[in-house]
Amino acid sequence: MANVRLVMEGSGMPAMEDLLPWVEAETGMDFSGNRSGRLRDAIQKVMSRIATTAGLDRLPAMERGPFLERLTAELTVGETFFFRNEFHFRALREHVIPDILRENADKREIRIWSAGCATGEEPYSLAILLDQILTTISNRNLGWATSILGTDLNPEFLQKAREGCYRMWSFRQSDIQADRRYFLQESDSFRLLPHVRDRVRFAYLNLVKDVYPSPLTGTMGMDLIVFRNVAIYLKPEVTAAIIERFHRALRPGGWLLLGEAEVSFAPTLGFEVQRFDQATIFRKTSDRAAEPSKYISASSLPVLALVSLAAQSILPSVPPIPKWVPRPKPLARPLLVQPSLARKAGEIPLAPGSDAGRQKAAVAELGDATAWQRIEPLLRQRHLTEADRIIDRISDLQERACTRLRYVQALLACAEISRAHRMLDLCLKEQPLLLEAQLLKASFAEEAGDLKAAEQSYRRALYIDRSCPMAHFHLALVQQQQGNRAGAARSLRTTLKLIEHKDPHALVEYGEGVCYGRLKEMAAVISGCRLEETIDD
Ligand SMILES: C[S@@+](CC[C@H](N)C(=O)[O-])C[C@H]1O[C@@H](n2cnc3c(N)ncnc32)[C@H](O)[C@@H]1O
Repeated sequence: MANVRLVMEGSGMPAMEDLLPWVEAETGMDFSGNRSGRLRDAIQKVMSRIATTAGLDRLPAMERGPFLERLTAELTVGETFFFRNEFHFRALREHVIPDILRENADKREIRIWSAGCATGEEPYSLAILLDQILTTISNRNLGWATSILGTDLNPEFLQKAREGCYRMWSFRQSDIQADRRYFLQESDSFRLLPHVRDRVRFAYLNLVKDVYPSPLTGTMGMDLIVFRNVAIYLKPEVTAAIIERFHRALRPGGWLLLGEAEVSFAPTLGFEVQRFDQATIFRKTSDRAAEPSKYISASSLPVLALVSLAAQSILPSVPPIPKWVPRPKPLARPLLVQPSLARKAGEIPLAPGSDAGRQKAAVAELGDATAWQRIEPLLRQRHLTEADRIIDRISDLQERACTRLRYVQALLACAEISRAHRMLDLCLKEQPLLLEAQLLKASFAEEAGDLKAAEQSYRRALYIDRSCPMAHFHLALVQQQQGNRAGAARSLRTTLKLIEHKDPHALVEYGEGVCYGRLKEMAAVISGCRLEETIDD
């Protein structure tokens, strides 16, 4: 019935008033006033591609992910080129990158994120710039580990970006294509050489969604985030929320480069503004504690993997309008530990909203508060060995594990990735039954592409708590990526069963802000069943 309601009589078009709030929420775009014409045109285009003579109302209502993908692809503009805005690149070359190299000299790691990267010219320009600088100073790059992430919500752009092959139009403000260290000419195109192409990782990420920063998407502890020419159609409050999340994704002292469309939302809180010629760049102040994100959960939604899987599915029909909306996240979510660890009962309050019957208890202060007070300033000053020692000296095993886990999160937030990995291993060695740590371990492996190790950790997590839907869901994704379709189908069925009667608006534990309604939708999409078959309200 929902489908029939969605279709404008005789037109084969979904009714705008039904679609509008949904599309606005999903894309963050503003279609008020005369902008609604754009949306109408885009819907028409998408529908003309998927509609059959049967009419939309009779197509099976399967899911809305791919529909939205097509729609947003229609609504977004991928205008970009190499070394766009010379002032920006000059400021990066002369000030920002040298500063990052100085700051990170000890660990020799650098993490950059081009958010809204379109067809890849921006992150590849950053990769080339970095290569030029590192080669100049060391002649051999001196073993720097560079990680450059390019994300976008248009899968076609991402596909083009991964290919790394461009025509002259992409070089309209630079002649970098002539540099044989970076490009190989193939008739009228220029192909990036593997040493630059392989430095950039591309992934789907909808910036409007509250799914970052997170370890799984590799969006934590960034040294530099570049966010330019993306916010043109976004609502101001959406852009402001994105910038707030970027603040959390940056390490203290990390840099944010905004485009002209974004600079009017210039953040003042938590950033200092630095002006270099005609470029204004924001720097996250480092005088705050290198606090772990209050939102970070060990197992965040596998946005990247999920969407690449969803993109493979067949084009859907008219999407059902979701009957649920995620509620805002609580400001702080306590760590959850498995019951036996938290059995010092009376001392530990139950997590708000958690199921008392399941005896899950929260460690309200995420570990030893006094120890943490001493660790925080050490983190700020990067006296990490001293901080390690304080944790080692905590005598209570449970407190030590929880403090360690909190420390891992703080290390991720300030881009101490290798140390975070080591600390997590220690934490798990001491407390292998700490569910959140096990999920975090799994997500590290998943991010590194080690699917076997990820599967093993998700199984361990399930050994600790069989009823953790996120662990089943992640396990399904990992199994699917390894070609184990039967296993994936089983895990998805279990996920759906576990969340069957949950309030679709309630937040999923370890779901990084995802509510049960959305998890149900995603599990349905991947398992290929019809969404309405799984919605019980
Ligand atoms: C004009 S291009 C900018 C490319 C590049 N940043 C530059 O400045 O050259 C804008 C890109 O933002 C992407 N975009 C728009 N909304 C987005 C969202 N909510 N999440 C992620 N990417 C988005 C579009 O798909 C498009 O590729």
